[in-house]
Amino acid sequence: MKPLALVFDAYGTLFDVHSVVALCDRYWPGKGVAVSQLWRTKQLEYTWQRSLMQRYVPFSSITEAGLRYACAAIGLDLSAAQQSALMQQYLKLSLYPDAKPALATLGGCKLAILSNGSPDMLDPVVAASGLDKVLDAVLSVAEVSVFKPDARVYQIAVDRLGVPKESIGFVSSNCWDACGAKAFGFRTYWINRAGAPLDALDATPDHTIALLTDLTALIG
Ligand code: 2OP
Repeated sequence: MKPLALVFDAYGTLFDVHSVVALCDRYWPGKGVAVSQLWRTKQLEYTWQRSLMQRYVPFSSITEAGLRYACAAIGLDLSAAQQSALMQQYLKLSLYPDAKPALATLGGCKLAILSNGSPDMLDPVVAASGLDKVLDAVLSVAEVSVFKPDARVYQIAVDRLGVPKESIGFVSSNCWDACGAKAFGFRTYWINRAGAPLDALDATPDHTIALLTDLTALIG
C-alpha cells in the first residue's frame, strides 16, 4: 500500500553526521573518526538519558555537550573557537548521495522530516542542502520537549501532517528509531547502509533496505 506521507529521520539518514571528520582531523590529526564517532554516540545517549530524566534541552545544547565529552574522553583540548566551528559544521552537513535522487522519485505523497534536531539546527541544514524545496514539512521534537523514541514524538507527524499513522511511512537509518516508529504504528523502512544486525527491541521494521533509493521500488 502506498503511504500518504513519508517521514524521514534527519541525522544519519538524510544527513551524514560524520561529515565533521575532516574538520576534526584538521584540529586533531588522526583522531577525526574517533571524535566524530564518540560525539555521535554521546549525543544520542544524552537524548535518551535526558528524556528519562525529564530534563529536555534543545538538541543543539546536547550536541555541544556530546562534543565536549568526546574531546575530554579522548584527551583532546577543545577551544571555544573550535567548538563553535564544529557546531557550524552541523549546519551544513553533507547529504548522503542517495538522499536527493530518492526524494526526487517519491513525489505523490507528503514528504517530511521528523527529527530530534531543534529548529535552530534543522532549518539551516535543510536550507543549505536545498531539501527545503522538496519537503512539505520539517518537524522537530522541540514541540513536545522529549526525544525519540518517545511515542509523543511520532504523534507530531500524525497531528501536523493530518495523516493517520497507518498511512505514514517512516524512514530511518537509526535502527532504534525505526523500531520506535514501528512500535508507534507507522509502516517503517530501516535504511541499513552498514549491514548492521537488527536491534533486539521486539519491534521489527517492516522493510530493511540498503539505500534510500531502494524506497522507489517499494513505494514508487
Ligand atoms: C534524528 O532525529 C535520531 O539524530 C536522529 O535526526
